Amino acid sequence: MTADELKKQAAYAALDHITTGGIIGVGTGSTVNHFIDALATIKHKIDGAVSSSIVSTKRLEEHGITVFDLNETGTIASYVDGADESNHLLQLVKGGGGALTREKIIAAASEKFVCIADSSKLVDVLGTFPLPVEVVPMSRSYVAREIVKLGGQPVYREGFITDNSNVILDVHGLTIMEPIALEKTLNNIVGVVTNGLFAMRPADVLLLGSEDGTQIVHAN
Ligand code: A5P
Repeated sequence: MTADELKKQAAYAALDHITTGGIIGVGTGSTVNHFIDALATIKHKIDGAVSSSIVSTKRLEEHGITVFDLNETGTIASYVDGADESNHLLQLVKGGGGALTREKIIAAASEKFVCIADSSKLVDVLGTFPLPVEVVPMSRSYVAREIVKLGGQPVYREGFITDNSNVILDVHGLTIMEPIALEKTLNNIVGVVTNGLFAMRPADVLLLGSEDGTQIVHAN
């Protein structure tokens, strides 16, 4: 199977892990695109969705799924999103698609975070995938210098503006042994809006598409 077929497998499996009857939180990315298509098959069972990006909003609306503002909904029962990496504690690196800030907000506002991915995303130690950090544009060089002091190699994602009108530094060269500590440290750099470590609020369940069927992984 191709990586995309494995992503699709995990995305459709997520239908068995969400609470229907209300509003579903929806992430961003190629795996989530499959989930949105899957959600459309049961749209009569939900009231609608909250969305983490302009791209996902468009796809949801094209399927006839109503998209709500998170400020109108209160706590979300289930949030479904992909990841660039997950460790065995279901702490994630996210933001390859640049939607990390809204993703982290919806994850924080949700009771259950269902992460969907192909099996290549499960790793022992986070950091091989460059860690995205969203920053206010005028702080870009300052934040980059602070990240260098932490041992990372920040690379400006040229030509990319987030949905929040900010820019992204992709941090290479990190071996993330203490994800929660690094998430907090990066959050404390002035100018950082969000970093792509989802460790303080990890996923609750990870669904991995694989040749042998979907693996269900809980934190251990
Ligand atoms: C979007 O900003 C990201 O957090 C995605 O969730 C992540 O990059 C996974 O993307 P794919 O599903 O395309 O692999």
